Amino acid sequence: MEKMMTSVFLFSANHFSRKTDRSHTDLLLYEFYDKIICMKNITLEAAPMEGITNYIFRNLHHKYFGGADCYFSPFIGIYSNNNVKRRDLCDIYPENNSGIRLVPQVLTNRAENFIWIFKKLREFGYEEINLNLGCPSGTVTAKGRGAGFLIYPDKLEEFFDQVFDALGDEAKLISVKTRIGFSNPSEMERLTEIYNKFPFKELIIHPRVREEYYNGSPHLDTFEKALNASTVPVCYNGNIFNLNDYNQITIGFHNLSGVMIGRGLLADPSLARQIKGGKAMTIDELRTFINELEAAYTEHLKSERNVLFKMKELWTYLARNFSGGDRYIKKLLKAKTLTEYRVQKNLILNDDMI
Ligand SMILES: Cc1cc2nc3c(=O)[nH]c(=O)nc-3n(C[C@H](O)[C@H](O)[C@H](O)COP(=O)(O)O)c2cc1C
Repeated sequence: MEKMMTSVFLFSANHFSRKTDRSHTDLLLYEFYDKIICMKNITLEAAPMEGITNYIFRNLHHKYFGGADCYFSPFIGIYSNNNVKRRDLCDIYPENNSGIRLVPQVLTNRAENFIWIFKKLREFGYEEINLNLGCPSGTVTAKGRGAGFLIYPDKLEEFFDQVFDALGDEAKLISVKTRIGFSNPSEMERLTEIYNKFPFKELIIHPRVREEYYNGSPHLDTFEKALNASTVPVCYNGNIFNLNDYNQITIGFHNLSGVMIGRGLLADPSLARQIKGGKAMTIDELRTFINELEAAYTEHLKSERNVLFKMKELWTYLARNFSGGDRYIKKLLKAKTLTEYRVQKNLILNDDMI
C-alpha cells in the first residue's frame, strides 16, 4: 500500500503542471481517491502466453505469488472436424486448474467451430470463453485467424452474428482479445463499430497492430478512443512492467474493467501481488518457484531438452531482474544440458541480485 501511495504521489506530481485547473492538493486527493476506487473494480488478468503460461506454470504462480484475479489459457486451436490437440485440452481440464479462475482462449475464424467448443467449455463449467483476435504469427494470420481475422471486418461481423444467434443469452460469456488492426491503428474505428454490436463480457485491447508484433509503444491515443466509444467493459493490455506503469494506465484511463499483464508478470512474478498492495519478490521465493517449476516439467515432459527449453524461455523474461548477473544469464541461455543450466541458475540465484 505504501509503495502504491508513493507512486501515486509521484505520478500526480509529475503530471501536475499539465492540469492547471485544480489546486495541487485537490489534484493529489482526487487522484488518490480515484486510484482507490479503481483498485476496487479493476480485475488483474494474467495474459495467455503460448508455450509458457500452461497449467503447470499457472498453478505454481498462483501458489507462490498470487495477485492475479484470473488466468487466460494460451489459445486452443480447432482443426478440421472439431479436432483439438490433446495437450491443449489437458491444459484447460478443470482438475488441472482447481482453485484458479481460468478463462480458456480459442483461436478460430469459423463460427461452427467456435460454437462447438464454447458448448464443450461450458460443460467444463467455464464462465468466460475468450476469442483470440490478436495472434500475430504468420502461420496463424495467413489462415485469417488471430490478428489475421481483423483484415476481414465484414466476415468478423458475420462470424459474431452467427455465434450470437446460435448461443443466445449464453453468448454474453464471450470475451474478445483484440489488437487495434492489422496494419493501421485507424482500423480500430470499424472494429469498434462491430464490437459495439454485441454484448461481450469484456473487450481486451492490446493497442498495437499486427505488424508491430510486441514492439514499440502501445498506441494509447487509439486505445483511449476505443475505450470512450466502447459499450462493453474494456480491459487494457500492453507494456505493464512495474507498479508505475500500472498506475499511469489506471490513473490515465478511467472506467477500465481490467488490466491484463503478460511479459511483466513473467519478468516479475510478484507484480500482480504488488499491485494489490503485497510485497515484492524475494530471491528465496524465486528460487523455490523456479526449482519447483523445473521439477514439475521434469515429471511431465518427455525429454530433458524440452525441460531445458521451457526453463530458458522463462529466463529470457526473468533476466530483466538480473542486470548485475548478465554474464551468468548469457551462459544460462547458452546451456546445452540441464546440468549446465543448473550451474548457471545457482550462480544467479545465490547472488542477491534482485
Ligand atoms: C511468447 C508469447 C506468447 C503469447 N501467446 C499468446 C496467446 O496464446 N494468446 C494471446 O491472446 N496472446 C498471446 N500473447 C500475447 C500476450 O498475451 C500479450 O497480449 C502481449 O504479450 C502484450 O502484453 P504485455 O506487454 O503485458 O506482455 C503471447 C505473447 C508472447 C510474447
